[in-house]
Amino acid sequence: MNDPVTPADALRTALADLLDGLPPRQAAQAVDRLIATYRGATPTNAPILRDRADVAAYAAYRMPATFEAVHAALEAFAEAVPDWAPGSHIDVGGGTGAATWAVTATWPGERPVTVLDWAEPALALGREVAAANPALRGVNWRRARIGSALTLDSTDLVTVSYVLNELTDPDRAALVDAAATAAQAVVIVEAGTPGGYARVIEARDRLIAAGFQVAAPCPHSGACPIVPGEDWCHFSARVSRSSLHRQVKGGSLPYEDEKFAYVAATRLPVTPAPSRVVRRPQIRKGQVLLDLCEPDQHLTRRTITKRHGDLYKAARDADWGDAWPP
Ligand SMILES: C[S@@+](CC[C@H](N)C(=O)[O-])C[C@H]1O[C@@H](n2cnc3c(N)ncnc32)[C@H](O)[C@@H]1O
Repeated sequence: MNDPVTPADALRTALADLLDGLPPRQAAQAVDRLIATYRGATPTNAPILRDRADVAAYAAYRMPATFEAVHAALEAFAEAVPDWAPGSHIDVGGGTGAATWAVTATWPGERPVTVLDWAEPALALGREVAAANPALRGVNWRRARIGSALTLDSTDLVTVSYVLNELTDPDRAALVDAAATAAQAVVIVEAGTPGGYARVIEARDRLIAAGFQVAAPCPHSGACPIVPGEDWCHFSARVSRSSLHRQVKGGSLPYEDEKFAYVAATRLPVTPAPSRVVRRPQIRKGQVLLDLCEPDQHLTRRTITKRHGDLYKAARDADWGDAWPP
């Protein structure tokens, strides 16, 4: 019997099919232009994704990475609310819908889903790609501008993935407040940079002020122990590289690591991780060093040695971003 096709596999195939219709040079040039635009990273008054070539390049180049980052955040959230699955989902600034794929990878099955974005070509291409995922065939792809006038229908889950970076300060606040009013659970993902972390912390503060509890990554809903400017909380998700990646970036590694920052918060009862591994564990001879964010709002380094028996075995398997102890 064949293995069932996972959403990650189906997405990879659908994106490869998409590039079949696009000359490789054109795709690579569109990606170069988008990278340059995103590096400029100031909010714009008009969509950056202008036409199908832009969007196809964005989707093929970035969607596997944003999918993996959101999927990792959602899995951490699901661990903190194990008996819950969203009965409905709105993805704001959803573009080509990477977060909708990640939701189906975390909680299989169909549910009412709406993707909101102001870029029509992104929505159109998202719909095309989603045809490869049976759980996403009924998605409502709708044009909407994020701003002070934004209101969202009541829903179980709102995702906001790699969007805050493109918004003005007031629009960022309006979006987080609208999400907090509409949803039981809000998951926000940003690039794993100091700026991405700062935007996540700002959103986290707003969600807590609105009555939410943090489910992940933090083991608490108190103040973040990281001193701004000295460090930033972020995680890493492994992404298989496509041929387009290799063409644009060179190199021969079959994968790359997507760095991301996130917060998952909810009005539901939660059991956050006892503590969270916030750096890549360092494995030494006979010991593992774990950097942990603790429930008492401190960062600590724990050394787990062979003398700890089963815990040592678990520490050798522990990964950056995992709950600790497992
Ligand atoms: C970097 S893309 C992320 C897309 C998708 N969420 C993902 O994770 O792959 C940012 C998206 O936000 C949308 N966006 C930016 N500013 C917006 C605004 N003011 N109103 C609506 N959508 C906006 C863009 O059109 C784009 O699709």
